[in-house]
Amino acid sequence: MIRKAAGDLTTAKYVIALTGAGISVESGIPPFRGKDGIWEKIDPMEYAHIDAFMSDPGKVWDVLIRGMKDVVDQALPNDAHKGLARLEELGIIKTIITQNVDGLHQAAGSTDVIEFHGNFAWQSCLDCGRRCPTRTVEMDRLPPRCACGGILRPECVFFGEQIPPRHLSRSQLLAMQCDIMLVIGTSATVQPAATIPIISKQSGARVIEINTEPTPLTHSVSDYLIAGRAGEMMHRIVTEVERKKRQG
Ligand code: OAD
Repeated sequence: MIRKAAGDLTTAKYVIALTGAGISVESGIPPFRGKDGIWEKIDPMEYAHIDAFMSDPGKVWDVLIRGMKDVVDQALPNDAHKGLARLEELGIIKTIITQNVDGLHQAAGSTDVIEFHGNFAWQSCLDCGRRCPTRTVEMDRLPPRCACGGILRPECVFFGEQIPPRHLSRSQLLAMQCDIMLVIGTSATVQPAATIPIISKQSGARVIEINTEPTPLTHSVSDYLIAGRAGEMMHRIVTEVERKKRQG
């Protein structure tokens, strides 16, 4: 499977990746669903819906955002993020569409990353709109406030909010254009992101999944699943791609 994926990637003309929380698990960031998943411990409708945030921002900061800030501040890219960046360097990957808000693809060196669900690196003020980096936010009083007194919110998409339209339309277009869609570490259960690989498949692309578990895409949309941890599998795939490139 590793050799097959390396062969497919080496001969492809236009590769796009869709990534989810599973790609950052080896960087110490917990996923949302499954073992150790955040949504197994707290109810997303109570803590990750925009209505929940607007009605009690202090509670959402305390239970969800504070914990995210702690793990994201510490996290470093793993071999899967680095492998995707290397595939871009080799001219194979064009764009990454990520549902993650941790910024680890850019930290690994990927230059064209569509942050489908926004990013956690920035906060904006609900009153004046001023932006500030999340790492500079003082956490001694929650919710944290802007100099104007307004409440800060992360620039992430909460449940109940729309995907930024430019991100959605560009992702759908790329999904139609690519000849390989590499789907890494997503449960493929949250819309509209979960539709992206389906668009690729319907447009004639090959869909390759890397995941520790099968997903709803596995026996219907994906051409094949590489079962394993993203970092380890990507390291092996990229090593094989590099070997093939050296051999010409
Ligand atoms: P999930 O937490 O739903 O799924 C994580 C996926 O990664 C699962 O399919 C796991 O089997 C897989 N996985 C876990 N560890 C892995 C590893 N080391 N290597 C490879 N795969 C691994 O995360 P997403 O699909 O990204 O949205 O979730 C989508 C959206 O739901 C998130 O962006 C977030 C969430 O609610 C919002 O907050 C709007």
